[in-house]
Amino acid sequence: MSDTRKAIENDHASRVRDMFATIAGRYDLLNHLLSGQMDKRWRRLVAKRLRERLGSKEPVVLDVACGTGDLSLELFEKIGARVVATDFCRPMLEVAARKIAPAAEAGGQRAIPLIEGDALHLPFIDTSFDGVTIAFGLRNLSNVERGLAELFRVLKPGGSLAVLEFSKPVIPGFSFLFQVYFTKLLPFVGGLISGSRSAYQYLPDSVSRFPDQTELVARMQQVGFERVEYQNLTGGIAALHLGMRPQ
Ligand SMILES: C[S@@+](CC[C@H](N)C(=O)[O-])C[C@H]1O[C@@H](n2cnc3c(N)ncnc32)[C@H](O)[C@@H]1O
Repeated sequence: MSDTRKAIENDHASRVRDMFATIAGRYDLLNHLLSGQMDKRWRRLVAKRLRERLGSKEPVVLDVACGTGDLSLELFEKIGARVVATDFCRPMLEVAARKIAPAAEAGGQRAIPLIEGDALHLPFIDTSFDGVTIAFGLRNLSNVERGLAELFRVLKPGGSLAVLEFSKPVIPGFSFLFQVYFTKLLPFVGGLISGSRSAYQYLPDSVSRFPDQTELVARMQQVGFERVEYQNLTGGIAALHLGMRPQ
């Protein structure tokens, strides 16, 4: 990679990290509020679909860009996975740690290790995990292809990736209304409550630059994933993509 490209990617990463650090304390509240609690259902579905792919044994799952840990907890509590969670923003991980400790104690189970790390340079050796998840994280990476390749690298052969991300609404009238909400109302309300208008302006901007459903399928296939499929959630506001590292 050229030095200029590296500098651009480093600059992007530090801006994203600083932005999430600023909103970490209000992230969960705004997530649930602005999505009308749909985000919870979407993460539950990720856990369910991943379990279908991984089978019933206790899988080892890496939750990348775990943020405040909601998907990590879902995987831990609902599918009994041994979960490792990673993110490069310490304030987000601190919120996750406060939620995860009581949940682990209540269940009498092992905790979820929270590891500070960059999704483009994951601190794990090749073929470590049965499953890898990334929820609302992929679109934030400075390079989506390298991100997918890194997720592929840490998966065991036969292991599955689940990507939950905002996508392209597919119902025409609904799509228009949603765009108005997403690009106008959401940045306003998000900015008001979080104190960072730019963070909630970044959300629709980053989604508009992210590949749509079929393009993401193609990119996953390009890095080597097989059995790639997707499911639209809530009319395509979000989509869940699944793929397998070949045996
Ligand atoms: C929108 S939040 C999603 C958090 C969580 N997965 C969820 O479902 O709510 C995006 C997260 O991605 C993390 N992130 C963005 N770029 C990253 C990178 N290059 N490496 C690791 N984490 C990253 C941010 O710090 C933030 O916590």
